Amino acid sequence: MKQYPPRIEVVGNADAVAERAAATIIGQLRDRQPVTLGLATGATMTPLYARLVTATRAGLISFRAASSFNLDEYVGVAPQSPGSFRAYMQEHLFRHVDMPAERARIPDGMAADVAAEAARYEAQIAAAGGIDLLLLGIGTNGHIGFNEPGSDFASRTREIRLDEATRTANAGSFPDRASVPRRAITMGVATILDAKRILLVATGPEKAAAVAAAIEGPVGTACPASALRLHGNVDVLCDESAAAALVNRPYTNDRRRA
Ligand code: F6R
Repeated sequence: MKQYPPRIEVVGNADAVAERAAATIIGQLRDRQPVTLGLATGATMTPLYARLVTATRAGLISFRAASSFNLDEYVGVAPQSPGSFRAYMQEHLFRHVDMPAERARIPDGMAADVAAEAARYEAQIAAAGGIDLLLLGIGTNGHIGFNEPGSDFASRTREIRLDEATRTANAGSFPDRASVPRRAITMGVATILDAKRILLVATGPEKAAAVAAAIEGPVGTACPASALRLHGNVDVLCDESAAAALVNRPYTNDRRRA
């Protein structure tokens, strides 16, 4: 399998990462319309979405001609429930920008037939002409979307059992441990690799080991994010603490640059 080194940029802190990542998305919204974005939820994305909201309010960008597909949603969590990824997206992005609601897509975690919902979601992405720019975070265990370690690189959108580490990381959105969902519906690794361009964003020291495994470890299912090295059009944007375990530096903007 041919491997492609991702473009890696290390900037000072989480704010600088959000600024750079937002600039990439703003550039895409300005250059190419209509554009189809792939979107992630989570703490890493919150400051980035805040910048997109500010840019929209300032009239610098518009989502009028954009469409989006979120990576994942919990199974059994209603969209209006505060812990759902739909609720997160509404709060942090969708209700503040001018993207038509019917074009802001998230898998339906309440679908009676999750396998059918997964197939429908794949078909919807294909019908939209694929994803132009997919935004990814990374789990401390190397997951992308909710493709937990062991996920096949040929996997498509499907139901998955969440690792306990993932449940722990995401427990803050739920009142108690027992309410943290055990299952989710996620784009597969192959669905992710079909995106035309990918931007992986990582901040904080807790991501350092996963970032190093993804970029410098073996390519394999033990680290789902290592699959990104098979893609060829991937940007990785990290703050200093998330980049701390990388050995083969320097990278762009690296303070430790020779
Ligand atoms: C969320 C998603 C996950 C997160 C990852 C990092 O839609 O697909 O892969 O990107 O778990 O989450 P945070 O940013 O909360 O550390």
